Parts: sequence; structure tokens; C-alpha cells
Amino acid sequence: MEQKIDIEYQSKIDLARLPQHIAIIMDGNGRWAKEQGKHRIFGHKNGVKAVREVTEGCAEIGVKYLTLYAFSTENWNRPKTEVSALMELLFLTIGKEIKTLQKNNIRLNVIGHIHNLPASNQKALAEVMEATKNNTRMTLTLALSYGSREEICEATRKMAQAYKDGKMNLEEINQTNFSNYLYTQQMPDPELMIRTSGEHRISNFLLWQMAYTELYFTEKFWPAFEKNDLYKAIFEYQHRERRFGMTSEQINESLNNTSQQ
Ligand code: IPE
Ligand code: IPE
Ligand code: MG
Repeated sequence: MEQKIDIEYQSKIDLARLPQHIAIIMDGNGRWAKEQGKHRIFGHKNGVKAVREVTEGCAEIGVKYLTLYAFSTENWNRPKTEVSALMELLFLTIGKEIKTLQKNNIRLNVIGHIHNLPASNQKALAEVMEATKNNTRMTLTLALSYGSREEICEATRKMAQAYKDGKMNLEEINQTNFSNYLYTQQMPDPELMIRTSGEHRISNFLLWQMAYTELYFTEKFWPAFEKNDLYKAIFEYQHRERRFGMTSEQINESLNNTSQQ
């Protein structure tokens, strides 16, 4: 097979126009392992390396929020042995990574149905979240037992309850307030979403938050995803025109006005 060598992308990135928030669907661990004649779990273990690499890569250039889809509500339907192996791997990884998070001033956050995780994982996550809560360089959010439709239902239930209790009126049900009832209430919406492994779908990830996110898909399997692949995605993002329903002419005009100020 022809080897395609990528150029080095880090130096090509415009640091003044970084996405503040990058979300990633880390997909393809199983297929990566299969390609090498190994078990799926081997793929998950190697996926942790890519998590480290991408976290470091984002923090180094100044991305403020990184959200990683690590386990979906639907993933509970996988074979029991795979689910337990994933939970064990999560437990071991959290324990190991705390030092690096502290050293790099990164705050750990979690979104999803955390109470469905094994008690040991909940405890380990709570400890690391508490220990890193004042870190300011970047927020690393793990989406665990996460499903966006359920997140939206939960937000709706909470709002309905607030209305019922007389704490909110109908006019207050607007986009800003709704966002504040989601798990991601403290975060800006992601400007860039990356999915690895060649699948072109959202798989119940941040449906509300990604209304205007730029989507980037790569064929690479997650364990093979490196810093340069991340920078390539950011580079491509910076060469897109985000129009938010407007025309290209309007966008250029407003860019000219800001550069003249
Ligand atoms: C992503 O890789 C990891 C999780 C969903 C936990 P997969 O396990 O989905 O790998 P493929 O898609 O089967 O190759
Ligand atoms: C999405 O990957 C969930 C995570 C990466 C955690 P899946 O591999 O589970 O997605 P589908 O089922 O192929 O859409
Ligand atoms: Mg998959």
C-alpha cells in the first residue's frame, strides 16, 4: 500500500483562531485491534494512549475545552466481558492520570449517567474531579454512559418541574435557559467535532450542542490517531467558512469591518 506522509500541521495553525471547544467521538478501537489479529480489548487499551496524546496536544496550543465520547448509553448493550473490561480500564486510567492532570493544570469533568457506572469508578472519578476542580488551563470532559436524547429529556423534566413549582414562566423557556439545564451548562458549544474510523454519524452525541459545529471525519482508527492528526483537523477547521445562515459576502464584510477596527 502506498504510504501517505502527512505534513507537519502544528506550525500551520493560527493560534488566534483556535476552536475553544473540541469534541471527539473516539471510534475504531475494535477494528484497529482486529487488523493486528488482536482482541478488541487490546484496541481499547491502545485507545488510552491516543487520549493522552490528544489531551496534551489540545492543552499545549491553548484549547480550553476537550470533550471525549468514551462510553455511550447504547454501549451498555455490548457483550458483558467487553463492558467490564472497559470499566476496569477506565478505573485504572483515572488512577494513573491524576498526576499528569495536576501537572498540566487540567480539570476533569464528566457528563452522562454517572450513577450507572460501577461504584468504584464513580468514587475514583469524584476524587479526581474534586482534586482538579481549581485547574484552569483546560477542562477535559469525559462523556460516560452518555446519551444526548436522554440528556435533552432530563433537561426538559427539570424545566417542567421548575415551571410546576412556579420558579419559571413559559417565556423563560428559551435556547439560553435550555442550554443551562443540560450537562454541558458551563461550557461553550463545540466549534469542531472529530470522529475517527470512517463512520459518518453522530451516535447520540451532543445533539443540541452541535447545532452549528463543524464536523470532521477521518478514516484513521482511534488508537492510531496522533497529535498531528488533531492539528490537521484544526487546520482544516480554520479553512472553512462558518456562515451561520448568512451569505459569504456578509461574512467577509463583517471580517473586514473587524480588521479595520
Ligand atoms: C470506540 O471503539 C470505543 C468505544 C465505543 C467504547 P469501538 O469499540 O466502537 O471500535 P469499533 O467501532 O468496533 O472498531
Ligand atoms: C460511539 O461509538 C460511542 C463512543 C465512541 C463512545 P460506537 O462505536 O458505539 O458507535 P456506533 O454504534 O457505531 O454508532
Ligand atoms: Mg465503534
